[in-house]
Amino acid sequence: MIVNIGANLRIHRLGLCTTIILLILLYLYAIRQSSYYASKSSNDFVSLKLLLAGAIKAAEVGGVEVVGVHEKSKLGIESKGKTKEGIDDPVTLADYRSHCAMYNYLSLAFPSVTVISEERSKDCDEVVRPSGTEESMVLEQIDSGWDVAVDPEHVTVWIDPLDATKEYTESLLEYVTTMVCIAVKGVPVIGIIHKPFIPKQTYWAWAFHGSSKNLQSFSSKKVPRDPILIVSRSHAGKVHNASKTALGENVKIISAAGAGYKFLEVAVGNATAYVHMTAIKKWDVCAGAAIIKALGGTVSSLSGDTQLDFGATDSMVLEDGLLATMRSHKWYLDKFNNI
Ligand SMILES: *[C@@H]1O[C@H](CO)[C@@H](O)[C@H](O)[C@H]1NC(C)=O
Ligand SMILES: *[C@@H]1O[C@H](CO)[C@@H](O)[C@H](O)[C@H]1NC(C)=O
Repeated sequence: MIVNIGANLRIHRLGLCTTIILLILLYLYAIRQSSYYASKSSNDFVSLKLLLAGAIKAAEVGGVEVVGVHEKSKLGIESKGKTKEGIDDPVTLADYRSHCAMYNYLSLAFPSVTVISEERSKDCDEVVRPSGTEESMVLEQIDSGWDVAVDPEHVTVWIDPLDATKEYTESLLEYVTTMVCIAVKGVPVIGIIHKPFIPKQTYWAWAFHGSSKNLQSFSSKKVPRDPILIVSRSHAGKVHNASKTALGENVKIISAAGAGYKFLEVAVGNATAYVHMTAIKKWDVCAGAAIIKALGGTVSSLSGDTQLDFGATDSMVLEDGLLATMRSHKWYLDKFNNI
């Protein structure tokens, strides 16, 4: 009898303990789940999927401003060049308005993440109201499978409110882009490049999760066998010479503008390598690097360093040039480093 009571008690205690432990586990699980699907207002975690949707929206909102200023300045073209730094200058105005639209949108929606912009106008009082696609519609386009929640302290968002400013003033509008890049612990994992002019398009890719449709159809396409380099039209001379020395007189070279534009040409296989020989700013590089890497390509400095850090406290400039390819990266590196 006594033994039985003891056993019964022990069983009860065991049952109670198990129940309590299960309840605790259930509670912890529930907490984890709720922060896993963290809403934008949660300070604990930020959902990368929501951040991607917000970043797409921000790039498009910036694009609306860029197009708007261009259309206005076409009407008053005589003001162009009158003041180099003045607010009448369409580049300054477009840069400013696009920056404010993108920056305000992202920092309102995601107050806990760090946003770094090329344009650093402190004063964005004239809050530009976001317009364009609804965020829920943007979210629907992202069939990324699962979501990832990250500590916002590890997130740096890089925005470039107007890439290819010179071409913007010259009305070479196909080169113009707005860009957003999401780096986690300094690694660019999500890139968005938006072309605001006709044909208006948004390209994005998220490492291990997916990409926009306009980048998917090309991923299986065979990259051309012969090298086709894409280089900057503003300092093409030096790159042309070096490229011919490295790859032979007959190498095909496309001169183009805008880092965003050039990265995309490599991503879809229109060019095999994006070569940049001088220093380049990180907000020009981050989104394109994220896209190329997510699609299976490689991005490095021209000297071969692939550890390019995009954290908030890292240097804002890549000093050693840039090489982006979808394949044969090492082959190009060897060629350029043995000139
Ligand atoms: C490129 O090479 C040509 C001919 O060799 C030379 O005249 C020219 O100065 C070079 N340009 C640059 C930018 O190095
Ligand atoms: C790549 O080339 C095709 C065919 O010429 C063109 O339609 C497309 O706009 C180019 N660039 C991208 C990013 O798709």
